[in-house]
Formats: sequence, structure tokens, C-alpha cells
Amino acid sequence: MAQRPYVVGNWKMHGTRAMLAEARAIDRAAERLIKVQVALAPPYTLIHATRNEAVLIGVGAQDCHPADGGAHTGDISAAMLKDAGAGFVIVGHSERRADHGETDADVKAKAEGAIAAGLEVILCVGESEAQRDAGEAEKVVARQLEGSLPQGENAAEKVTVAYEPVWAIGTGRTPSIDDIGAMHRAIRKKLVSIYGEGAGEIRILYGGSVKAENAAEIFEADEVGGALVGGASLTAESFLGIIAAAAEGLQG
Ligand code: PGA
Repeated sequence: MAQRPYVVGNWKMHGTRAMLAEARAIDRAAERLIKVQVALAPPYTLIHATRNEAVLIGVGAQDCHPADGGAHTGDISAAMLKDAGAGFVIVGHSERRADHGETDADVKAKAEGAIAAGLEVILCVGESEAQRDAGEAEKVVARQLEGSLPQGENAAEKVTVAYEPVWAIGTGRTPSIDDIGAMHRAIRKKLVSIYGEGAGEIRILYGGSVKAENAAEIFEADEVGGALVGGASLTAESFLGIIAAAAEGLQG
């Protein structure tokens, strides 16, 4: 990994205030592992409290509404997230795309709304198992990037891309290291074709069943700049194993 690795925990719909102890433990340990940029995306209800507990790590959200505000019952705008202490937001997660029918255009609008509100964005892309089996994985991901990457001034500086094959999320299965490398190279190429040479700096995270046991190997794959971690980010113990692997990878 050439750049400072970025390891982000996505708590999904997990966590009550009792879990703040995990956030605190992750934050304290991050002090020893300053070579790694660490962040957590807890549920909305814990963003403010997590920001208050954590000094070093980034805190973000898992989604936002594209508009600044208005008559959208139950939704949360990027400006509200920023006010609650978030520094970034994940957009386009496959669970949002599947559960809420979010299209690439929706994801792009959310990403642009988030950047306008002063947040950074982690944009998720990834193919289904059927698409991979049909040999269409790279085509599908390229199409998602074309449709959902935010445009506008400074957009490229605010974006991190997370490649998360849908079939690897929460399943314990991961692509081969060669397949991860091939997809990350393809994503880099696409980013450069969309944003120009500055896109060489954009970090591309891998997500999908990353654990302390497989992290070191995954971090060695081409163009992997870190990880987006679901299940294994829920306890400090398992998440810190991944962060330590990222710190090691940097030295290796
Ligand atoms: P997982 O989830 O690590 O539990 O597979 C990753 C994600 O959905 O971001």
C-alpha cells in the first residue's frame, strides 16, 4: 500500500450506547497505530456520542439524503450529519441499493449533496455473484462508477471508493487476491479516465468479509488502499487486528 491505509468500520444497524466502549477502545489503540487512518460509521443515533468519545478516529454515517433539508420524514441530510460530528458518509452500499432501490443516479446525488455540505464520501460499488459468474464484474463496476461518482469542483479530492462484491459481504467468502487486484486496477483506470491524473491519489478500499485473519493478504493486493469492514468492526478486538495488519502492510 503506497498511501496511508484507511480502515473504516461500518457498524450497519448494530449498536446502542453500550457499544461506545468499543469505539473508545478502538480510538485509544489508534494512537499506537498512527500510520493507519481509522474511522467508524456507527448508526445515526450514535454519531454524536461516538464523536464525543473518540479523539483520533474519524466518525461518519452510513447514508444521507441528497437534499439540504425539507419535507422528508425520517431522512437525514448531510448538513445534519456534519452538525452531529460526522466527517464523512458512506453512499451506495449494496444493502442500500438492495433494500431501498437506490440507483446510481441516487447515489451520485447523495455524494454531491454530502460534498456540498463539507463531508467526505466513501462510494461503494460491487458486482453480484451472478454478474461475476457471467464474467461481467468489471463491466458492472465500471458502469456503477460512471453513474455514481460525484462531479464538480474538488469532487475527486473528497472521494474514497470501496469495492465490495455483494456476494462477499457477510458471507465469509472473498475473491482471490488476483481477482481483488485486477478489479482494483480496473477501478483505478476508470477513476483516471473520469477525473484525470489526480485520481491516482484516490484510495480504493476492499470490503467483504475482511477479518484479522485474511487482512494482511488482502492488503498486499494491487491498489488496495485499506478496507471497509462490517462484522469484524463490531468489537475493538477484531477490528484492531485488521488495523494492525494494515500498519504491518505498510512496513512490509
Ligand atoms: P462484512 O461487511 O465485513 O460484514 O462482510 C462489509 C460491508 O458491508 O461493508
